[in-house]
Amino acid sequence: MAEFDLIIRGGTVVTASDTTQCDVGIRNGKVVALADSLEDGAEIIDASGKLVLPGGIDSHCHIDQPGSHGVESADDFESGSISAACGGTTTIIPFAAQYRGQSLRAVVDDYHTRAKGKAVIDYAFHLIISDPSDQVLGQDLPALIREGHTSFKVYMTYDALKLDDSQMLKVLTTARREGAMVMVHAENHDVISWLSEQLVAAGHVEPKYHAVSHAAPAEREATHRAITFAEIIDLPMLIVHVSAREAIDEIAKARQKGLRIHGETCPQYLFLTADDLDRPGFEGAKYICSPPPRDAANQDFVWRGIETGTLDVFSSDHAPYRFDDPEGKKNQGENAPFTKVPNGVPGIEIRLPMLFSEGVGKQRISLNQFVAITATNPAKIYGLYPRKGTIAVGADADIAIWDPDKPVTISIDMLHDNLDYTPYEGREITGYPILTLSRGEVVWDGKDPKGNPGRGQFLECDLPNPPQTGGPAIHGVHHATE
Ligand code: URP
Ligand code: ZN
Ligand code: ZN
Repeated sequence: MAEFDLIIRGGTVVTASDTTQCDVGIRNGKVVALADSLEDGAEIIDASGKLVLPGGIDSHCHIDQPGSHGVESADDFESGSISAACGGTTTIIPFAAQYRGQSLRAVVDDYHTRAKGKAVIDYAFHLIISDPSDQVLGQDLPALIREGHTSFKVYMTYDALKLDDSQMLKVLTTARREGAMVMVHAENHDVISWLSEQLVAAGHVEPKYHAVSHAAPAEREATHRAITFAEIIDLPMLIVHVSAREAIDEIAKARQKGLRIHGETCPQYLFLTADDLDRPGFEGAKYICSPPPRDAANQDFVWRGIETGTLDVFSSDHAPYRFDDPEGKKNQGENAPFTKVPNGVPGIEIRLPMLFSEGVGKQRISLNQFVAITATNPAKIYGLYPRKGTIAVGADADIAIWDPDKPVTISIDMLHDNLDYTPYEGREITGYPILTLSRGEVVWDGKDPKGNPGRGQFLECDLPNPPQTGGPAIHGVHHATE
């Protein structure tokens, strides 16, 4: 029997910290050797002239998430995970979303059923907590955290999901006690509602007014408030889908003070602007997401946030609503006001190639930074490291081999999701994953998806943070708040 099931030979292996010319030996789905030259592989992949990167972790994507009001996710775990794999991603972390009144346990059980037998790559779940009852915070959430659902998202906006400030504080206290990671959708709900009412009353209902109603100061204020809560409760926090300079500044200030605040951004804030929402007719609805894409100056600040490390996670926020579909963007018809259009844009497959081309290719970020924000940092933040997010002896052989020079014109026809559009149609990029391995098995060969649905495994995440008994220390005074 050969020593290795597979050797990746002659490539440039890149991690968040190193770039090395070496061979990678894989056995039983794990990386077992990294060396100048390896022999005795049952299979050999020649990677000379290619980059060998950790498979991406998409730590913010919405897959088969039950919607409200007849809006349906176009992607289930099969199409969503296949699409991810074809773009060089090997782990996805979508959301088991609790709507008010729902049992959190029942929501998570249902989500496991949706994933099982379908995913082609490994997956974990974040939870969404919208109903933080005593049962949820005292029993269900702690139990689910212990079962490996160690991160959850809370919303400061959206009628169906938002928590008020006192609920936020309670939820954060639970996260601190249990060692979980909290993700926050930070936008001021009342500001957005008020601006939306004013705009609609004045007849300003077209998609472009979505970006007006979700004003950057509303994002800044909520980001500041969320960080204030993290400071008071004394726990790490991640602000999701950061779009604006003002919010980035809040995160940078918090970091300077020594607070453990992470910032996530997404392709739409680097590659789209509010002008995209002003396309003719209803076309702009394709680009409605929250927070919205902003202007070119804000795009530059998002790049700068990535370069400086203030934004340390790059996810897709893939929200698979088809455009020409009554269960998607046209749920309330073609002339629906912006307030009635489902929020979100797709991007699970192009997340990595777009960032590679525009970030690494245009020398805005290094290859190591690329790996850090797309794989290693999310693995660390969500309790999956070092099993996932790096290429190291003992890690799962989740690897994407990239041709850094491959020219690609993005079009919906080449993608593997169930959408009928991509916001990036016609963009010309350079560099693409030509092979994706999940635990040593090919799931994308550069032409076709491979790997059976159902081969993807649920990942129990480790605790991202040490559990803290006792209440937070406020201004040096230790309060027993629990
Ligand atoms: O508009 C967005 N981002 N939709 C997806 C849901 C969310 O808030 O992340
Ligand atoms: Zn959100
Ligand atoms: Zn999202």
